[in-house]
Amino acid sequence: MATTLAKAADGTQSVDHAARIEHVSKSFAGPAGPQLVLDDISLDVAPGEFVTLLGASGCGKSTLLNLVAGLDAPSAGEISTDGRPALMFQEHALFPWLTAGKNIELALKLGGVPKNDRRDRAEELLELVRLKGSYGKRVHELSGGMRQRVALARALAQDARLLLMDEPFAALDAITRDVLHDELTRIWAETGLSVLFVTHNVREAVRLAQRVVLLSSRPGRVAREWTVGIPQPRRIEDAPVAELSLEITEVLRGEIRRHGQH
Ligand SMILES: Nc1ncnc2c1ncn2[C@@H]1O[C@H](COP(=O)(O)OP(=O)(O)O)[C@@H](O)[C@H]1O
Ligand SMILES: [Mg+2]
Repeated sequence: MATTLAKAADGTQSVDHAARIEHVSKSFAGPAGPQLVLDDISLDVAPGEFVTLLGASGCGKSTLLNLVAGLDAPSAGEISTDGRPALMFQEHALFPWLTAGKNIELALKLGGVPKNDRRDRAEELLELVRLKGSYGKRVHELSGGMRQRVALARALAQDARLLLMDEPFAALDAITRDVLHDELTRIWAETGLSVLFVTHNVREAVRLAQRVVLLSSRPGRVAREWTVGIPQPRRIEDAPVAELSLEITEVLRGEIRRHGQH
């Protein structure tokens, strides 16, 4: 995957985007010939920016995220990222035979962190996701929310500049999800990471993002985007969050009606 570097006036190299998606289309083979899932998508994520990608189920959000992750190739168009992105999914995908700490250390090992530094770094990352003292816990001893915290720590262990998140909190209860929204916002602000976060939940999209990008369905296209100026930390029940969510929901409903899929 290409990394685009721009030369600054002082001769140092600076990256002008965390991810750049240019005129990307994706088709899959279907029973009646190729099925166009994504159609001419262009989208940039700036360094340090938090973008949510919002759309109805089946509109192609995961397909697009997988392309950005380099897990699949676009049928047309170009994607470049600032280094290799870290990934986090709805299913935590932790190794059940390893402890929380060892799951994180494995990511550190794969990232080339020397053996002697791994334990301390894993403890630091557990503290960052507020799981201090859970180093020796096995996956089955952790609640759903705690597993996602470990999964987040493991993603952060990759030391990537771009974090790709695919509905990571969708399976959690509302209160746990709320707490993890706060944690993610805090960690994003502390680390300066760029985040591309996929969700079908309008309020979640508005709660988290600096920019919400709405995808239409069949095929997925960028329907509209909103810059969210509401100061952080936000709460999902804040009036400005609710108001903007309502506006976006109306547009999303229009998209769904237009495609007659529900
Ligand atoms: N590997 C694949 N082969 C064929 N069709 C696929 C494949 N992956 C996704 N699709 C189709 O692409 C569409 C978008 O899927 P997906 O990206 O998972 O949507 P979302 O994440 O928005 O719910 C769906 O119709 C799905 O069936
Ligand atoms: Mg999906």
